[in-house]
Amino acid sequence: MQSIGIDAVAVWSGKLKLDLPGTFAAVNNEDPEKYTVGLGLSASSLPDSYEDIVTMGANAAYRLLSRTDTSLSAIGRIDVATESAFDNSKPVSTYIGGCLESVMEGTVRHVDKGERKFACLSGTQCLNDAYNWIAADRNRGRAALVISTDTALYARGDAGEATQGAGAVAMLVDADPDLVAFSHERGIGSMDETDFLKPNQQFPSVDGKRSVQVYLARMREALEDFKAQTGPLHPEHFAYGPFHTPYPGMVRKAAVLAFRNTVRGTALGDQLTEEIGPQPTRAAFETEDEYIEAIRAYTDELADTEAYRRWYTERIEPTLRISSQVGNWYTSSVHLARISALLDAADHDRTLTGDRLLVGSYGSGAEAEIHAETVQPGWKDAIGSVAVESMLDRRREITFDEYERVHATHNHDSEVEMEPLTTPSEEFVFDGWGPMGERQYRFVS
Ligand code: HMG
Repeated sequence: MQSIGIDAVAVWSGKLKLDLPGTFAAVNNEDPEKYTVGLGLSASSLPDSYEDIVTMGANAAYRLLSRTDTSLSAIGRIDVATESAFDNSKPVSTYIGGCLESVMEGTVRHVDKGERKFACLSGTQCLNDAYNWIAADRNRGRAALVISTDTALYARGDAGEATQGAGAVAMLVDADPDLVAFSHERGIGSMDETDFLKPNQQFPSVDGKRSVQVYLARMREALEDFKAQTGPLHPEHFAYGPFHTPYPGMVRKAAVLAFRNTVRGTALGDQLTEEIGPQPTRAAFETEDEYIEAIRAYTDELADTEAYRRWYTERIEPTLRISSQVGNWYTSSVHLARISALLDAADHDRTLTGDRLLVGSYGSGAEAEIHAETVQPGWKDAIGSVAVESMLDRRREITFDEYERVHATHNHDSEVEMEPLTTPSEEFVFDGWGPMGERQYRFVS
């Protein structure tokens, strides 16, 4: 069977930067360590007044196609994943297609376009749709362009405000890819949940503490479902574990559970049993509460072992490199984690070809998905040209007053308008409203 996966990626960050421990925590009378230590975040990327999900998605896509010298005729579908859409009928992919046609040769007239919704999960679902389309040989030799794009803003004063972000990732999915190939197996954990939702409203209704528990529960189910197809896994069989990262502290919680689950029954697991005792089992306790208390205590001890710490430092921490600087990009978050891992491997000159990644995606509402990816021979060149960190360094840092105006400008219910804080160059910008209430865009040279 042919390998199918991600051939190339590009990233576009919102052009403003809010320093969380320095600016946000200070004004809110919070300890900066809540951000740096607790949540694991140093800053959020936020959109300037001329940026939105279309401009960021189109800019990421244009970067990707230009850099890889891919013409529009080589694309057979454009799928956009977002949970920040502003239209219930016309998909964002049509706007992005229009943007690309305005600056590139050729058209996307015979390109299938859509928009996927399942909270933060839908970027991964778009990748899977692209995989199926190519595997079914319905692509006529063409690649799929998958774009995840969000302005992840919460209502002012909501606890989620600490985890905001804005940006887009564009991915080219093709047969015989340069970056990573997807596993055929996918594990799913899905249940009707009301942890985080936006019932026809811009900012989420969120039960933050519960959302953390739902994330962990659905991820565990997805892992079990994945293992049911692959057989037992070993934590060290994966070079990195990029997970959905609403904030790095969430991944810290998920990682130790994934380690606990996959180390069971391995030689390393036996070694750990000698060191800290066996993993508690439900059968050994009379009540659920007693069992939960015991498994929590065991997990804390496990997280303190040398074996776990080394595993986390080598295989999980590097995946958090970008997200700790940009916040939650919703549908893009897990894709930033994959990029972070590959950048880390390139920086350390690691031989990664043939190694595997264990990728865990999550969307509130709720569904988790786990699949594996095999790193391809062209990975180093493909990741070397992404240049995401130089883009982050160019962000304009904003004051708290500016933050308040930026937030209000992007609030659909507010009349606030502001002059841009940055000067656009070689990018798509929002250019006002058309006669039917459509948003309009232009390219600034
Ligand atoms: P909060 O009330 O702002 O923060 O809520 P907190 O008081 O819980 O503190 C956060 C962590 O920092 C805690 O660590 C504190 O102990 C620690 P934990 O107990 O969790 O390990 N902390 C400190 N550490 C050191 N020094 C200090 C200090 N102070 C506190 N001084 C919450 C945090 C995440 C709940 C909030 O930001 C929120 O509601 N966020 C939005 C929801 C969210 O991100 N949920 C994550 C799982 S759901 C998900 O990922 C889906 C999502 O991406 C949406 C989608 O799918 O579309 C959100």
